[in-house]
Amino acid sequence: MDVVMTKQLEDLFEFLRFPSISTASEHAGDVRACAEWLVNKLEGMGLTVELHETPKHPVVVAKNKHIDGRKNVLIYGHYDVQPVDPVELWDSAPFEPEIRDGRIWGRGSTDNKGQMMAHVLGVEQMIQEKGELPVNLTFLFEGEEEIGSPSLVPFLEANKENLKCDIIAVSDTGMVAKGVPTMGYGLRGITCCEVTVKGPSGDMHSGVYGGAIANPATAVARLVASLHDDEGNIAIEGFYDDVKPLENWEREMWAQVPGMSKADMLENTGSPDLYGEPGYSSAERLWARPTAEVNGIGGGYQGEGSKTVLPSEAMAKFSFRLVPNQDPKDISDKVVKHLEKHTPAGVTVEVEVGHDGKPYYSDPNSVFGQAGQVALEKAFGKKPVLIREGGSIPIIKDMQDILGADSLLLGLALPDCQIHAPNENYYIENFEGGIKMSQILLEELAKV
Ligand code: BES
Ligand code: ZN
Repeated sequence: MDVVMTKQLEDLFEFLRFPSISTASEHAGDVRACAEWLVNKLEGMGLTVELHETPKHPVVVAKNKHIDGRKNVLIYGHYDVQPVDPVELWDSAPFEPEIRDGRIWGRGSTDNKGQMMAHVLGVEQMIQEKGELPVNLTFLFEGEEEIGSPSLVPFLEANKENLKCDIIAVSDTGMVAKGVPTMGYGLRGITCCEVTVKGPSGDMHSGVYGGAIANPATAVARLVASLHDDEGNIAIEGFYDDVKPLENWEREMWAQVPGMSKADMLENTGSPDLYGEPGYSSAERLWARPTAEVNGIGGGYQGEGSKTVLPSEAMAKFSFRLVPNQDPKDISDKVVKHLEKHTPAGVTVEVEVGHDGKPYYSDPNSVFGQAGQVALEKAFGKKPVLIREGGSIPIIKDMQDILGADSLLLGLALPDCQIHAPNENYYIENFEGGIKMSQILLEELAKV
């Protein structure tokens, strides 16, 4: 089926062509160019736009004319993207978007340019068709979400008054399955760290020295293994102390959510079986339980054939997904203590704690939550399911704390959108549904 290239799709394609990879310093110019494109687009819609410099990538703020007595709505999004490697696994170039099979293929198509653009274009359409918006709108777009939003927290603190709002809308999460509108009312938090294990001052002959000195790769493997017990529970002392227990209503509600069965999970992941903390369903493990993950592990010879070497160093990168009411700093302290305590004999261990973000939770049935649910139902033709999300958007909790406003998580990603991976893609039907949803949302919020 041929897709007609609308002006809205053209806009999204232009936006997607910027390789705005926030983590790669060689792309800093592309990140900036992308922000400038956005400024131009928003100004063209008649909004008042500011590009704010930060120590890293610019923040873009845009507003319509604010009138006393109307609801103040903030829409957040991020225009930065993840790196594209391994680039050879892409079927088309990551920054040359293409349409195939009803989807847009390219880095950022779902996370988050395609989703945030649905709001921009929804607002554009509403201004064009109605002449104005029913609320005082503030767009807040950042270029550092994928690196933990280091500049945005100080920006929020410094611009609290300017960003004042009653409610925040964010489309940077998922739908549980195609055609199933989904509203998130929670997000997991995160804390990351990197462990370096050191043994001999250089690589050694594994026959000449093996057996008489410790092997750092073995030590890393032991440390990794020490994080869980044999049943799959996290074995770090005090790790679960502050976990908010699952409520019965959530367990009952999530048991009905489509797209989360064993068969769905295996199909979405290609894994041979399910695995996880005993006593919880997949949905519960993903949305309400914390995890300890190894993101990367290395050390020693990785080349072809064999090499009888005893490596001098080995490493692992960890991330811990957190749930309310765990505190990332408290958890990273506990992790460091655990790793120190479990350091095998004969090696030294250095732990570098990385970025973090707090978990988020809000009431899905607040008056604003209800407006979000109505907008999803009207745009997608079905009552939304209510979930918490497994992923993290650390700034959402910071906005709750600093601006005093909750966020409606109105996800447009699908399980096979391959965010952060090769062949990221975005369903055109969700782009179009999102454009509609954004307009209905503003109308519904105005009525609250
Ligand atoms: N959009 C994602 C988060 C997400 C994805 C939430 C799917 C729910 C469902 C966001 O861009 C992201 O990738 N966040 C990072 C945060 C980290 C770098 C601090 C994450 O979750 O790994
Ligand atoms: Zn992301």
